[in-house]
Amino acid sequence: MNTITSGINLSDPAPHKEPERQYYFIEKAKEYVRKEAEEAGRPMTFCVTTFGCQMNARDSEKLRGILLEIGYEEASEEEADFVIFNTCTVRENANTRVYGRLGQLKSHKKKNPHMKIALCGCMMQEPEVVEKLRTSYRFVDLIFGTHNIYKFAELITAVYESGRMVIDIWKDTDKIVEDLPNDRKYSFKSGVNIMFGCNNFCSYCIVPYVRGRERSRKPEAIVREIERLVADGVTEVMLLGQNVNSYGKNLEEPLSFAELLQKIEQIEGLHRIRFMTSHPKDLSDELIEVMGKSKKICKHLHLPVQSGSSRILKKMNRHYTKEQYLELVDKIRAAVPDISLTTDIIVGFPGETEEDFLETLDIVRKVRYDSAFTFIYSKRTGTPAATMEDQVPEDVVKDRFDRLLKEVQTIAAEVCAVHEGTIQEVLVESVSDHDDHMVTGRLSNNILVHFQGDASMIGDYVNVKLDQCKGFYYIGEQV
Ligand code: SAH
Ligand code: SF4
Ligand code: F3S
Repeated sequence: MNTITSGINLSDPAPHKEPERQYYFIEKAKEYVRKEAEEAGRPMTFCVTTFGCQMNARDSEKLRGILLEIGYEEASEEEADFVIFNTCTVRENANTRVYGRLGQLKSHKKKNPHMKIALCGCMMQEPEVVEKLRTSYRFVDLIFGTHNIYKFAELITAVYESGRMVIDIWKDTDKIVEDLPNDRKYSFKSGVNIMFGCNNFCSYCIVPYVRGRERSRKPEAIVREIERLVADGVTEVMLLGQNVNSYGKNLEEPLSFAELLQKIEQIEGLHRIRFMTSHPKDLSDELIEVMGKSKKICKHLHLPVQSGSSRILKKMNRHYTKEQYLELVDKIRAAVPDISLTTDIIVGFPGETEEDFLETLDIVRKVRYDSAFTFIYSKRTGTPAATMEDQVPEDVVKDRFDRLLKEVQTIAAEVCAVHEGTIQEVLVESVSDHDDHMVTGRLSNNILVHFQGDASMIGDYVNVKLDQCKGFYYIGEQV
């Protein structure tokens, strides 16, 4: 399955079974790190920089968990001995940023004999990228992909033992390794993978090529993980998958996403359940019903529309029309009247005409999203859209993008303001960046609220009166 493997010591007497094998390498790596710290006369430090989506953010928590376990301490990117870039390749600009940052690291490495650089994540699943790194970025120590991230401790050991560039990339996998260390960013909330990969092949999107085929975790493993998180102080989970609505279809004992949610709902001590992302084509009536009844599922649905033109949606391979999407929105709003809807939109897909774009503006006006991520279409080599004719000229795309953004922002400000004066429950997440006497938290519908408070409130649920809407957030006061 491996496309490239180099620098790995195959004669190591390590167990074959996972995760036992990784715990063996954690112990081994610990010893190398201890020796290096002794030589340096100070602890070894690391920094994991994450690009891309929540999947990558969750993967980075797993990387941090292993690094802490083997004896590294966390530091800033400028100071760290071990710098890890967990990369994204969904749009071209994500790649450009990685090469830029990597260039800066080269000079750091010249000054620090202990320095190591690792690259992982979606970009590494592209053979051209790895080839470029292998030939022109020789100062990188370790390159691995999205399928073998659980092997991080083993790969670090290989770096220590070989002293060469270690590359380990798998084309795909059917494996899910559970129960390895991870270090959560927040004490009170956590992402939880429920599935990996994607089978949808939207024609513009590279994710299925770099994340592999869809694999669902077993419901028992998910429930067990959440129960442990709750025992450790977590009250809000975000269930993660590229298309959570198709969860469970390929399990030995199939289970729908709605059924999984009902199981999770029963976990005592869990207060809020979020999930993303939902593909409109797979959002079932069963799920809408469960959302309508649930006491814990948050009143927020991220439902990427991508375009308002049925003609473009067809070329995007999205399997729904503008009308079907609008019907779905009506159904959801009927079942969960105060739900907040957010979306992703791509502007400038190949062949998009002014007429198609007006359909997108129209759907934005009809749905009235609470917020929308708007993207300029980015050509991804290897995807069907990359070779489609009529790529839209840059100036035309830019003009459409600006018009769309203005519309989205105007509507979002109006929609956000409807809660003004109400009292709602806020989960306090942090002390405000701008003012020590203020805290920041989230409503069930994901809107941010700032109000007076202090660090002792982090992780608490507080009833707050929403005094003033500031466009996309609120200023409130505790009641
Ligand atoms: N699985 C999720 C989305 C993952 S990627 C879903 O289907 O909704 C996040 C967003 O990036 C997508 O919703 C899409 O709007 C955007 N995106 C993906 N590929 C893109 C491309 N080639 N150019 C521009 N935006 C893209
Ligand atoms: Fe990409 Fe479509 Fe899969 Fe989302 S559903 S990750 S947009 S292919
Ligand atoms: Fe990027 Fe990979 Fe996520 S390509 S958007 S980090 S799945």
